[in-house]
Amino acid sequence: MLPVNKLWLSEGALGMLQSLRYYCQKTPRKLRICEAISHLEVGTKIKVQGWVRSVRPQKENLFLHVNDGSSLQSLQVVASSELNHRLLTFGSAVEISGSLVTSPSRKQEVELQADQIDVVGECNPVEKGFIQIHTPVLTSNDCEGAGELFQVEPAGREKDQDEEGHRHFFSVPAYLTVSGQLHLEAMAGAFPGVYTFGPTFRAENSQSRRHLAEFYMVEAEISFTQSLEDLMKVMEDLFRSTTEHLLAQCPEDVALYHKHVSPGYRDNVDLMMKKSFNVITYTEAINILNSSSKKFAFKTDWGCDLQTEHEKYLVKHCGDVPLFVTDYPYALKPFYARDNEDQPLHTAAAVDLLVPGVGEMCGGSLREERLDLLKTRLAQAGLDETYGWYLDLRRFGSVPHGGFGMGFERYLLCVLGVHNIKDVIPFPRFSRSCPL
Ligand code: 4AD
Repeated sequence: MLPVNKLWLSEGALGMLQSLRYYCQKTPRKLRICEAISHLEVGTKIKVQGWVRSVRPQKENLFLHVNDGSSLQSLQVVASSELNHRLLTFGSAVEISGSLVTSPSRKQEVELQADQIDVVGECNPVEKGFIQIHTPVLTSNDCEGAGELFQVEPAGREKDQDEEGHRHFFSVPAYLTVSGQLHLEAMAGAFPGVYTFGPTFRAENSQSRRHLAEFYMVEAEISFTQSLEDLMKVMEDLFRSTTEHLLAQCPEDVALYHKHVSPGYRDNVDLMMKKSFNVITYTEAINILNSSSKKFAFKTDWGCDLQTEHEKYLVKHCGDVPLFVTDYPYALKPFYARDNEDQPLHTAAAVDLLVPGVGEMCGGSLREERLDLLKTRLAQAGLDETYGWYLDLRRFGSVPHGGFGMGFERYLLCVLGVHNIKDVIPFPRFSRSCPL
């Protein structure tokens, strides 16, 4: 009996071992990308998790590059084109199982032949074609040309030279950024849609309820665009999608404001979301202001900048929903704004979005992509040397493009119905106030 039993036992154990081996072969082992590309695991079933660095769909196959930050090199993934999915976009987070094999290409030693691809996290901005760029806080440009700059030097060394005779820490004067636009324009030469969201600084002496010395701005730049309509569409979409998201994700917080801070304001938000935004030109705006019986504190002649009182009046006059004002006088806009070349009312292809109760919330323009016109304008302002690199962007593969910036705190004023910008940021900075 014993040998039989032993045989039976060993057969049973063998069976278990076989099914364990079968299970191990079937169940992929989770590897980091650096482990996967080390080719020690070739011939095994593996699973990797990471972010998509590139997607190349071909007729029969889909090629991906995936990275999880464990290696500078990404893992090439080859899958049947049936595994392609609309959510597989640059930046999306994925989990992929398959067989690790020796790659037939000389570009990499191994590749993953995928059996299954799961998108764990979508990457929506990329889906809409926008790539996020981290633009610098320290910069040597005054994008807006308004001179409202905070200069940055090491403390206690403002005027002196260092031991090597350098007057400035960066060899040139450096400032806290007033806008990431010019850096976005450089990146828009490589990606058709880019955006940045970060702090911006303006040394404005204004004590108004809508100005801060440090505020946040969402800025976008779009290549291959030749019309303000394209820009206005992106601005309107940004407002609508952000507001939809806010109302869906934080309904209690928004309701708290609409109950205690701005009673009844939810109706205004609903109206803005329901109705299309209006569009008028600057010239039409001036005509509206001049035919009004209201007495304004500031001048309303053609050529004058629109003041808050004018902006708020125009929004109300046009139905109390957001209002685009286009084609401002050329002389009012910074050097980068595209010349409409329309004499004698000389205007630029620039647009501001004005919103109820606040006035200007976004400012944008088509950019002057024509080298000769840009050169002349910069030379007139004595800036052609400073902006040599910006002129180079027009020399090498330049395309018509444009963009805009939306002040984030002003957006919050608009959707929450808050009166003073200092109440939508925890540590407001404004002239003569920088505690903590
Ligand atoms: O109109 P601005 O100056 O436009 C730019 O900076 C462009 N370079 C943006 C671009 O095209 N990429 O500023 C854009 C927005 C304004 O519409 C306003 O909402 C906000 O930034 N903003 C301020 N918000 C608070 N405090 C201040 N001092 C602000 N100055 C501008």
